[in-house]
Amino acid sequence: MRRNHSTTPRTTRILGSLLLVAAAGVFTVAAHPEARAAAPTPLDRVIPAPASVEPGGAPYRITRATGVRVGGSAEVRRIGAYLTGILRPATGYPLPLTEHGTGGIELRLSKGGLGAEGYRLRSTPAGVSITADAPAGLFHGVQTLRQLLPAAVERKTVQPGPWRIAGGTVEDRPRYAYRGAMLDVSRHFLTVPQVKRYIDQLALYKINELHLHLSDDQGWRITVDSWPRLAAYGGSTEVGGGAGGHYTKADYREIVRYAAARYLEVVPEIDMPGHTNAALASYAKLNCDGVAPPLYTGTEVGFSSLCVAKQATYDFVDDVLRELAALTPGRYLHIGGDEAHSTSHADYVSFMDRVQPVVAKYGKTVIGWHQLTGAHPVQGAIAQYWGLDRTSAAEKAQVVEAARNGTGLILSPADRVYLDMKYTKDTPLGLDWAGLVEVRRSYDWDPATYLPGVPASAIRGVEAPLWTETLKKSADLEYMAFPRLAGAAELGWSPAATHDWDAYRTRLAAQGPRWDALGINYYRSPQVSWPTS
Ligand code: ACM
Repeated sequence: MRRNHSTTPRTTRILGSLLLVAAAGVFTVAAHPEARAAAPTPLDRVIPAPASVEPGGAPYRITRATGVRVGGSAEVRRIGAYLTGILRPATGYPLPLTEHGTGGIELRLSKGGLGAEGYRLRSTPAGVSITADAPAGLFHGVQTLRQLLPAAVERKTVQPGPWRIAGGTVEDRPRYAYRGAMLDVSRHFLTVPQVKRYIDQLALYKINELHLHLSDDQGWRITVDSWPRLAAYGGSTEVGGGAGGHYTKADYREIVRYAAARYLEVVPEIDMPGHTNAALASYAKLNCDGVAPPLYTGTEVGFSSLCVAKQATYDFVDDVLRELAALTPGRYLHIGGDEAHSTSHADYVSFMDRVQPVVAKYGKTVIGWHQLTGAHPVQGAIAQYWGLDRTSAAEKAQVVEAARNGTGLILSPADRVYLDMKYTKDTPLGLDWAGLVEVRRSYDWDPATYLPGVPASAIRGVEAPLWTETLKKSADLEYMAFPRLAGAAELGWSPAATHDWDAYRTRLAAQGPRWDALGINYYRSPQVSWPTS
């Protein structure tokens, strides 16, 4: 039934639709919104596309009598509470959490070979069960269940329903273990509630890594007790000269806790040796000439560098990474390493040779932007590739060579998944240095073949960064992230065999009413046939 709308005459489309509707014997259904709502969402109309779907049997219907069974552990109970927190407002049903009984909605841990994040969702008229080997799988299964219910389930007031889940089985697990999103909280500071709102949006698409770009020329955003002026002074402004801000350690722990409750790991980044004006402005001794530059509120890049020759630089790096590692239960510390245009190549290499072991000393794994591959990535390091189609063959070859030698890769090609790129020349927000990136372009690539010559085992996954030179409010972030974030999430999660633009745009269109219900401000790309009602 999918048609290419750009090549099919409009009259043919309408006639075709009428014929299909008539042939299916549902002409009256289409005429009555109430009746139309009774057709439950097909099990495969989910983003990211599930690994396997077997439709069959009659649907399950959530009613006033439905309970949510969460036997076993406190963690399963917590996931049940998260689910009922979503379902209760719109259904108006009590949905009690219970430990015993039959039927209803069941969340259960059970070894089934589904891995750390996989799950099985089974729907019959008697009930819906989600089973998983581990809690993260149950949580991801809950996101699928959510998308199988009508979009109105996301509303905060009682809605009419009915609340049906199509019959059949979904068996699902991710293609890649690393499915990330980055927020640049430096160019414009984002408050804890703004970060939490984004985390909730990421969780809906099974993203499991939140990379926070905590420092840059325009602002230092995390308290470091041993270097207090970093946050107090270095965090006191932002692009455009606003008041900026920073996270206290309690704030940061709260973000980590909130993310972990949604099965996201926080990856903190301190960008070095470039992108460091906020630190250099805060402490004169970090500058080679001993003179602190002024704070910076513009949007140029590449003009700042830590002083590679000074011991004070390494005292600073050690203290910052020690305090950050102590705050971070996650496995990674991201040390930046991009656009160090004011650092000589020799200095860059010597700096990275000294800094990477500090990350290991504090028990963490190095992530760096892919320029790290031009130095000596340590054993186990991961490089985040942010090149473009037009990136030179030599630069790509350097990344491929590093991957062949054991460096892991996270793929963030800027002309695909940099969410701050404008969609078209008329997009009111965002930048365009990497190009204009419409929804199809953002979705239509394959991580496995993107950099030819990279061994499959090197690819850890996909991350969609959101840089904030032009973005301040949650509505700004959302307009740039949606719909493209959903595509990046799907590239990270779904098997290559499910990749198909026409099928994807149908599933994407179905997300529009959900985003409306959630109050998410999204770009209504003309490449997608958004529902009108
Ligand atoms: C980057 O966009 N400079 C990583």
